[in-house]
Amino acid sequence: MSFWSDMRVIWGMAFHRGSSTDLKSRLEEFYSGQSGDYDSFRKKLLHGRETLMGEIGQRLEPGATVLDMGGGTGHNIAGLGTHLAKLGRVDIIDLCSPLLGVAQARITKEGWTNVHTAEADATKFVPPAGPVDAITFSYSLTMIPDWFLALERAFCNLKPGGIIGVVDFYISRKWPEGKYKKHGTLTRGLWPLWFANDNVFPSQDHLPWLGSHFESLILEEGKGKIPYVPFLKAPYYVFLGRKSL
Ligand SMILES: C[S@@+](CC[C@H](N)C(=O)[O-])C[C@H]1O[C@@H](n2cnc3c(N)ncnc32)[C@H](O)[C@@H]1O
Repeated sequence: MSFWSDMRVIWGMAFHRGSSTDLKSRLEEFYSGQSGDYDSFRKKLLHGRETLMGEIGQRLEPGATVLDMGGGTGHNIAGLGTHLAKLGRVDIIDLCSPLLGVAQARITKEGWTNVHTAEADATKFVPPAGPVDAITFSYSLTMIPDWFLALERAFCNLKPGGIIGVVDFYISRKWPEGKYKKHGTLTRGLWPLWFANDNVFPSQDHLPWLGSHFESLILEEGKGKIPYVPFLKAPYYVFLGRKSL
């Protein structure tokens, strides 16, 4: 069952990559055929999400508000575990309606009365009730062409002292600052080519941007397995930061 589900996803990734010039249409072309199978395959591909959500959940006060930008199927909200019930409001923001449909079904099934979905662009979204306590980007920045606009918007949408959490694929700069890992030429060349097929663009600039705008609370740089691809591991980072007061 899981094998055939994975094969449907791999088929979609290979043959329905999305070729519209408009981002929303491109995302919906890509994800509409795989939305039902998305979660089981991505559990094996998108590493570090549980760490990110667990660490954020622990740091939030009762009544806190959270935006999950490019939240897709809402899988990550479960990662907040027992912390979720104490939160005031969680909004899952995404441009892709088939994935938001899965998120909405999950909210109903789990009875999460404080979790809501909104179809919106992460580079433009302004929370109607004002700045929030935490913002997360889980493997969404690499799919947002203007990722720097999404981060600038997130910076404005966060309260002073608020927390940002990002997990994503990346590559290092050729000459990274000493606090960051350095990747070899092959790693820096291979992964952008590999992921670009599916309109995913690992960047060398996410971490320096985050490190220069937020106080760093957690920085993990790891390598994670790719399902059905032995011997290769893709680099990813987990960053948790605080906006200054
Ligand atoms: C790889 S998926 C990650 C989904 C989810 N966060 C997770 O960890 O499973 C990338 C998500 O970013 C969303 N996305 C891409 N560009 C976006 C934008 N400009 N605004 C909002 N969501 C966007 C996609 O629709 C997709 O749901």
